[in-house]
Amino acid sequence: MHIPLSTATVKWLSLEDNLKKCSKNPNMSKSKKIRHLFDKKIDFANNATFELPTEAFVLPKWSIPSFQNDKAELNRTKSLLNQFNLEEWSRHTKHRDPSSYITRFVKQKFHPELVTQAWCKFYECLCSFNVIPKEAITSSRFTSFHLCEAPGAFISALNHYIASQGLDVQWTWGANTLNPDHEGNSPQEMIPDDRLLRHTYKNWYFGSDFTGNVTKYCNHVDLVEKIHEKVWLVTADGSIDCSSDPGNQESHVEFLHYCETLTALALLKPGGSFVLKIFTMFEHSTICLLYLLNVCFGKVSLFKPGSSKSGNSEVYVICQHFKGPQVVEKIWPSLLSPYKSGHFVDKSMFDLNKINPDFLTQLLHISRFFMQKQIEHILDNIRFFRNASQNESGKVHQIKVYVANRYINKYKLKSISRHLKLVPTLDISQFFSNEVKKINFVNGVAKFDAKNLVQVNPTLDILDVKLGEKFTQVKSSRFCDNLPKLNFSNKMKSHGPLYQLVANKLGATATIISLDSPFESYYDFQKDFFYKIFHSKKRNFLIVGVPLLTNFLAGVMYILISCFSHVHVHQNGCIILCGGDLAKIAPVFATVEKRYRSVPDCGILQIVPPGLLYSNNFFDFVWNYNRLLQFLNKC
Ligand SMILES: C[S@@+](CC[C@H](N)C(=O)[O-])C[C@H]1O[C@@H](n2cnc3c(N)ncnc32)[C@H](O)[C@@H]1O
Repeated sequence: MHIPLSTATVKWLSLEDNLKKCSKNPNMSKSKKIRHLFDKKIDFANNATFELPTEAFVLPKWSIPSFQNDKAELNRTKSLLNQFNLEEWSRHTKHRDPSSYITRFVKQKFHPELVTQAWCKFYECLCSFNVIPKEAITSSRFTSFHLCEAPGAFISALNHYIASQGLDVQWTWGANTLNPDHEGNSPQEMIPDDRLLRHTYKNWYFGSDFTGNVTKYCNHVDLVEKIHEKVWLVTADGSIDCSSDPGNQESHVEFLHYCETLTALALLKPGGSFVLKIFTMFEHSTICLLYLLNVCFGKVSLFKPGSSKSGNSEVYVICQHFKGPQVVEKIWPSLLSPYKSGHFVDKSMFDLNKINPDFLTQLLHISRFFMQKQIEHILDNIRFFRNASQNESGKVHQIKVYVANRYINKYKLKSISRHLKLVPTLDISQFFSNEVKKINFVNGVAKFDAKNLVQVNPTLDILDVKLGEKFTQVKSSRFCDNLPKLNFSNKMKSHGPLYQLVANKLGATATIISLDSPFESYYDFQKDFFYKIFHSKKRNFLIVGVPLLTNFLAGVMYILISCFSHVHVHQNGCIILCGGDLAKIAPVFATVEKRYRSVPDCGILQIVPPGLLYSNNFFDFVWNYNRLLQFLNKC
């Protein structure tokens, strides 16, 4: 269905007008633009008159020509960039981004934890709106939940805001994100930076399948069940890499935004706030989502923080005064139906005829406001790309310094004392290091004292078993780099020379575990690995060429090693464990085995907390071993 929308009331410049405007007066509105960098916000008016349609996802998809024309216009502007070399262009836009010093200045002057651009953007949201509801402050108890949140800069910004404003509230927070410790998650989708996550692990929820994927309905249900007390604030900052199809960014993220929104509505207390990142607003999916939010919240605003790059489409929807779940109660089952099936079918959330026309007029105006600013910025960048000069460079620097200082003054930034930080005992900003100590081989063997690697004599308390989605292939691993190159060759297998050598010498007294039999999925392989150890009656073990890529395998090794006094790694890819007292760890492995029997449909993804595996010596040991195997495979 195509329904035209009158554009008479909206002042709109076409691409041609824009180009003319920019080239006539190049310095046109520079100072004005900088002044307005921090004023990009618009509220929806009169949303109390917007009524919720009585059904959802019933009628076929629709589009509105005026919105679609704008989409074409924006894409036409973006396509002007195709003529430039991507790397040169990114360097140029980064150089010309007026907000690009903000993060650096904030970091240098106030040393907050985990300062990123996201930190600066959310800090602006906090300072510009009553995102923390007044009722929460009055009651002295504030709760928040953060969806799609790794690495966690929103949480850090919120903590900094509460502490520096001296808000007298007891704050509890939780968060969700694609789990960087689920090796079935692809690294392209995730942010692996776990500086905050690893120190606040108990606050993070990865759902019933342990992937952390908020678009899976099972994880939504699990989350809503586990968060017993509804929260005052939900943030949702999810995004998906759309660089291969930038013209359709909105369609790529629509399902994620819908899932984030439904989860927020299920988690919020009446009176609560919701902050959602979106991009453009041209498609039926975003139009309906914004309509839904306008019906559910007393006030809805769109905000592009000054610290957000002017050349991109990202804006934050700031929703305040949640009216409570009863507002959507009647259509909730139908609203949830795509969530349950895992995708949108060919239907729009609402019938276009049931959406208040005033809302559509306002939205068109709002959408054009942000789009116009984005187009102006892109064209400005193009003009300067062609006419770059030394003089211009100096000016850009001055503008960036001015903008960063303005940010700091406008939002009255202050430092907070260390004891008020999320992780008071450590400087997590400095803590992200990939430096791994190399192991030394003497006469082809590296020897480790087990008590320097692991906690000896572990009790059942060490266990933190996590079940979840079985995965067939390891897509990411904390324990090695260059994962795709870990393609293990035959020499490690039972007919290979290394295995034969080891088997001849030690086979009679040791349990040998190798990559021998082909396995259908990584899950099967891990289970087999565990059961070989669990059923072993021998006191010696040889691990021959098995890469320890997952939290599960590393966890099993962690516990196994704890009953030996020494670990030897042979330069040809073999871990040797001799004379262990397996009785010491029998109760621990028996508990894991019980879980295997009780949950045949799930995988065991972790048996000890990841933090334990990242303790330096053990991590170095595993990393070096995997690197050795990588090297051997290349030879
Ligand atoms: C822009 S980052 C969030 C930054 C965060 N707000 C901060 O301040 O540090 C987007 C995050 O969304 C996560 N994400 C993307 N798709 C997701 C999904 N389906 N479920 C859960 N998290 C997802 C990504 O892994 C990434 O960590």
